[in-house]
Amino acid sequence: MISKKLETALNKQINEEIFSAYLYLSMAAYFLSLNLDGFAAWMKNQAQEEMSHAMKFFNFLDEMGGRVSLLAVKEPEKNWKSPLAAFTAVSRHEQYITSCINELYRLAGSEKNNPTQIMLQWFIKEQVEEESTATKIVFKLTQIKDSVNGMWILDKQLGARGTGA
Ligand code: FEO
Repeated sequence: MISKKLETALNKQINEEIFSAYLYLSMAAYFLSLNLDGFAAWMKNQAQEEMSHAMKFFNFLDEMGGRVSLLAVKEPEKNWKSPLAAFTAVSRHEQYITSCINELYRLAGSEKNNPTQIMLQWFIKEQVEEESTATKIVFKLTQIKDSVNGMWILDKQLGARGTGA
């Protein structure tokens, strides 16, 4: 069983995760326009991961007897000033998602909804990884500055790993 309030909050989180996928796909297109195929591959991979997050919430809400209700997905940004600006935006976005997950966890706790809290613990751990990965790439890009060689090396690294840096 799930309350209407929690159902609404979980539906909103499905939307946040789908928007994350949309944002990272938009970043993939931005990186492709710069011929940074490795960065683009990383973003495509990340977008797929975000869709899997959305589906975790989707399936959970259904299993709990809630009604999944999809909301409009807002249009993402299309351009960034630089790869560093794009990854700084990733980092900020992940911090925002962490705050959403934490808020959901508090709500589930206040309603003594144990299954939802347990499900959210996976996301709490996942967000530590998501934030850390973005922070590391921001750090590398800050170090690289305008070095073309540095950019190509990082592009290769990101392309090879798909996720992580
Ligand atoms: Fe689904 Fe990157 O948080």
